[in-house]
Amino acid sequence: MKYDSSNRTFDCAPTLTDSQVLEFCRLGYLIIDGVVPDEVNQRTCDYLNGKLPSNPSYIPAGFTRERVDAMQTSNEPSSLLLEDWFNENVIMNSQLAGALRSLLGRDVGLPVIVSRHSVETPSPAQGWHHDADRVFGPELRYLEVFYYPQDTPDEMGPTEVVPSSHIFRVNRDENDSGVLTAASAGSFVIHSQSILHRRGSSTSKGLRHMLKYDYWRTVLPEKDWITEPEFDPHDGDYGPHEINRYVAHMFSWLCGKGDEFRLIGGQAWPWNHPNKIGPSYGFGSKEGYVPDWRGEGHDGYAHPR
Ligand SMILES: [Fe+2]
Repeated sequence: MKYDSSNRTFDCAPTLTDSQVLEFCRLGYLIIDGVVPDEVNQRTCDYLNGKLPSNPSYIPAGFTRERVDAMQTSNEPSSLLLEDWFNENVIMNSQLAGALRSLLGRDVGLPVIVSRHSVETPSPAQGWHHDADRVFGPELRYLEVFYYPQDTPDEMGPTEVVPSSHIFRVNRDENDSGVLTAASAGSFVIHSQSILHRRGSSTSKGLRHMLKYDYWRTVLPEKDWITEPEFDPHDGDYGPHEINRYVAHMFSWLCGKGDEFRLIGGQAWPWNHPNKIGPSYGFGSKEGYVPDWRGEGHDGYAHPR
């Protein structure tokens, strides 16, 4: 792990393979379970509960020690980013870092804001929503992470997500369920900020903590994650109809080929089926259409501009 404290970036070896990167593009989220040591999880909860005195490694420009201390019990306890133990074990956790490095490229920019999502349980589910200021598109310029410092089983109301809902606006009935990101203490949920989600309903009695923050891309995309010899982008799993064109576009963008991406539609690539008796048409086409991410076209395809 290489940490550049002046630019607030880190670099390390990527840990995701071609199939895992494609899976992230398809689902819009990825869970890394139980990788932060218990002692650090406990320390985080103590910090959030105001039981652990702050010990900032430095005071950022424009701040005073008093202002840093006042952040500790606020809804944006970004002062955690000034604690060495938190940076080392949570923010730059080695297993999280390898996945972020795979998806965001070299020299990943570190978070500057931490949001606290603490809730007294039991509590009803939140309404389904896409977070404010989302941008739908093939670009992956940042990733949002949830950190669960406690065991967060279904009864504690983990965040519920709708797989593949990071592509365009989705309306969902409050009675319809999604996938609960239940995880053990010390887990991370890496996700596209655009994904449809809500706080799940909880039935146990307690206080559920969850922290949310973003990591940033600082370099142009290129395919430099782990190459899988048997992976063939011509034949990958890009997901179902109406979804696969966007997933393939996002994967191409991550490979540094987003501008060249063209589709011809129908049964052509990236639609796939195991009963296909020959290679798909349309892979690598120089002509065709691009997915209409922001919904201007009537058929979901936009002409290249
Ligand atoms: Fe939200």
